[in-house]
Parts: sequence; structure tokens; C-alpha cells
Amino acid sequence: MEQNRVIIFDTTLRDGEQSPGASMNLDEKVRIAQTLEDMGVDVIEAGFPIASAGDFEAVNAVAKVVKKSRIAGLARAVRADIERCAEAVRPAELSRIHTFISTSPLHMKYKLQMEPDAVVQAIHDSVSLARNLVDDVEWSAEDGSRTEHDFLCRCVETAIAAGARTINIPDTVGYAVPDEYAALIAMLINRVPNIDQAILSVHCHNDLGLAVANSLAAVRSGARQIECTINGLGERAGNAALEEIVMALRTRNDAMPFTTGIRTEAITRASKLVSTVTGFVVQPNKAIVGANAFAHESGIHQDGVLKNAATYEIMTPESVGLSRSSLVMGKHSGRHAFRDKLKQLGYELGDNALNEAFKRFKDLCDKKKDVFDEDIIALVDDEARANDHIRFQSLEVIAGSKGPQKATLELEIDGQSARAEESGDGPVDATFKAIRALFPHEARLQLYQVHAVTGGTDAQAEVTVRLEENGKTVIGQGADTDTLVASARAYVTALNKLLTKREKTAPAPVSA
Ligand code: KIV
Ligand code: ZN
Repeated sequence: MEQNRVIIFDTTLRDGEQSPGASMNLDEKVRIAQTLEDMGVDVIEAGFPIASAGDFEAVNAVAKVVKKSRIAGLARAVRADIERCAEAVRPAELSRIHTFISTSPLHMKYKLQMEPDAVVQAIHDSVSLARNLVDDVEWSAEDGSRTEHDFLCRCVETAIAAGARTINIPDTVGYAVPDEYAALIAMLINRVPNIDQAILSVHCHNDLGLAVANSLAAVRSGARQIECTINGLGERAGNAALEEIVMALRTRNDAMPFTTGIRTEAITRASKLVSTVTGFVVQPNKAIVGANAFAHESGIHQDGVLKNAATYEIMTPESVGLSRSSLVMGKHSGRHAFRDKLKQLGYELGDNALNEAFKRFKDLCDKKKDVFDEDIIALVDDEARANDHIRFQSLEVIAGSKGPQKATLELEIDGQSARAEESGDGPVDATFKAIRALFPHEARLQLYQVHAVTGGTDAQAEVTVRLEENGKTVIGQGADTDTLVASARAYVTALNKLLTKREKTAPAPVSA
């Protein structure tokens, strides 16, 4: 690989999924993986196979369908993890085992309760075992940025000698600052004798808002792999955002002369998909993918942009795949045109899903004068849940000031239709009570939020619902021109996610 090429390692499906509330089911993980592959991501970390049967299946399914990106699975420095991981990634054309152990004094003493010599032995044993099972092994020093330098050098040298070809130095708790982190990478390059046999990688968390800055500083010092996630999803404050890293390298290539293999025009689409699947709404002023990232409000700025966009735009909206809202089709558009439009937007649906989506598109055209790309995206993302246990069928509501407000709801639960009528403190309350009557559960509603997908009073409402059960949170979204239908859909999506979460058997305590 050329000297200045930076490998993009995406961990949205692993570290990203570790964000509280961000669970994804198997189909959603496969869709995200295919989107990442299409975007040109070099390595996709698809999950932590030992964590649960669901995680194993997801890594395995991704390994079967993705052909161009390398598929990595995470494993602790224990035989069972590594063997399970090898099994999960086996179908991949390009596979990797990513094994890790903590190296900082704090983690070794309190988390691992292991002496440094035992940690070095575990590194040797785990990497050797992984190398017997796959050709490509990455080793990570968890809490690497808070590890003593002499010991870190010893660990890295051991991992390389045992066969690791990528050495990752995570800033696990987001504690580093750019100069210091860059110096750490330089120190390893200068001091580890066999460092030329490995690629140095960085994995930064964003607790101080420095994840992207730290990653870029490390690249300038010699790191050539960056681990990151779409929309900066990840544990606590998240990981370095892929879109920010890639666009910073592209836009400021004069200051940072490094390249990636990312097709940046696919960024917006990937961001929207991850946001819809996880229910994590992107903040409007988020760099690159926020709704305001290319919006100009002040008259002076608007005037400047009209005269020459470069006055206030350092990159074009098109370079990240953002097209101006475009009117798509109306009620006279046929299935063929609809399928073409979906293709343009990055969706390839199977026949059944296409039929369903087309039916909803036609319904939408009856209700809404102008149908925009955003409407189609919201509709299809909402529809692509064919394997859900619980599916929304219909809702009738009596609302208004006189009361009592009533909801008559029909759901399909594991293939059986069921109907309930409930009254409540407002139509949303009545609707949610009807869901609870049809599918009893103890989860608490923590958040209910509505926003409009486009402008106008006939805009689709996009509702976000967050549920909490035994400390686990899930987020669901639903879209419809009727806010109450969108609310029911969002609640049902969240419930389905909760079922996925319940299915995951809790692994032994791990920190990753
Ligand atoms: O943050 C971290 O240290 C990790 C490692 C497992 C790579 O996620
Ligand atoms: Zn991490």
C-alpha cells in the first residue's frame, strides 16, 4: 500500500453498537455493512462474536455478503473468544481477528487483576493463537494512551513478534490531547525494533471532544489506520467520526497529504441510514452530516454563496452526497420509476419489500402534494423491517378537546393479527396503551419526540421513542404524514429492538 494511504477501519457495528440504546438487528447490520462496503471502507468491524448468539450471527452474516472490505471481529485475549471470532469471520473473503487486552497500570491492577508479565504472556498466546486461525491479526492495547511507555513498547514488540500485522493504540477513555498522542505514536515508531513489520492504528474516544483531532495528529506522526464510526457513534461520548476524518483529509490535503479509499459522495446516505437504524438523531450543527452543515442563514453569507460558493463553503454539498431537496414523483409514477429512484438513493429492495414500499409511496402521494427524496428515505427506512416480530397494521383515533381520546389499533404479532381499543390522556397515550394491551411489557417510555421530515403542513412526521427496561435502552423511529401513526410505528420499532436486546445473552463482563 502506498505510503500516504490511510486505512479506514469502521467500528460502527461494534463500538458504535455499544452506545447505550443503539442496538441493531441482523438485517440492519447487514444493510449498514453493505453501505460501508459501497462507500469504500477498508475494514469493517462487524461485532464481538463471543458477546451473544446474535452478535455471532451478525458477524457471520456480514462475512458472507461483503466481498470488498475486510471483515473483522473482536476478541478478548482468551481462547474461547478467539476461536469463536475465527468461526464467525471464516466465510469472509478478507477476514481479521482483532484481539485486545488492557495494558495501563490502572486497568491491569483493577480490571484484569494481572501482573504485567502475565499480560505480556497473554499477548503472546492470544496473538499466536489468532495467527494460527487467520492470516490477518490486529492487536490492541486497551487504555494504550495511559500505559507506561517502556511497558507499551514491550507489549507491541511481543504482539508483532507473535504475528500481529496491525497494532492499535486506543485512547480508550478519550483522555489524550493531540500533541501528546502524536508523540506516543512517534515514540513507538522510534523505539519498537520490529515496528516496520506492522501498521500502526489509532482508536480515539471523544470524551473531551478531541477524537478526530487526536486521530489526525497520530496520522501525521506515522499511524496509517484510523478506527472510527459513522456519525461518531460509540461508547459514552462516541468514537472519532468517519465523515469528519475523511473530509478533513480530503479538504485539507495541503496540510495533511494523506489519502483514503472512501467515496465521500456516499457519506450522507450512510449517516442517514445509521441514524435511522439506531434512532440516534444527528445534531443539526454536526460537522459534515448535520442538517445545517451546508445551510446559510444570514443574508451576507447567502449573498456571498450566490456570488461564489467558495466564499463560505470549504467543501461542496455534492462532495458528501448531499443533493438539494429534489421533487421526485407524484401519484402517476409507476413501480419502475419508483425502483429506479430507490436505486439512485442507494436502496436495493427485494420484491416483497419493494411492493410494500410502493404501496406506502402511493398512499403518501394521496396525502401529500410534493414528495421529496427525504420522504422516500423515511418511508423505506421505516418499511425495511420485514423480520420484525411485531408489525404495525392500522390505527384509528378519536382526538380533540372533548375527549375521551380513544385509539383502536391493529398489530401483527408473530404473524397473527390482534386488535385493541384503549382510551387515554390524549391520543398518543391511548395509542401507546393499546400497544401495551396487545403486547404486555414493563418497559418505560423515556423519550417521545416529533420532528418534520420536510417543510409544509403536509410534511411527514418523524417520531422518535426511547424505551427502557432493566437498565437497557432502545430507540425506535417511525414516519408518516399522520403523527399518531408515526408514533405507533416508532413505538413498535422500539419494542422490536427491545426483543432483539432481550435475546442477547449477557456475556461475561468485558470492557471494549
Ligand atoms: O476503546 C477501546 O479501547 C476499544 C478496543 C477494544 C479497541 O474499543
Ligand atoms: Zn473503543
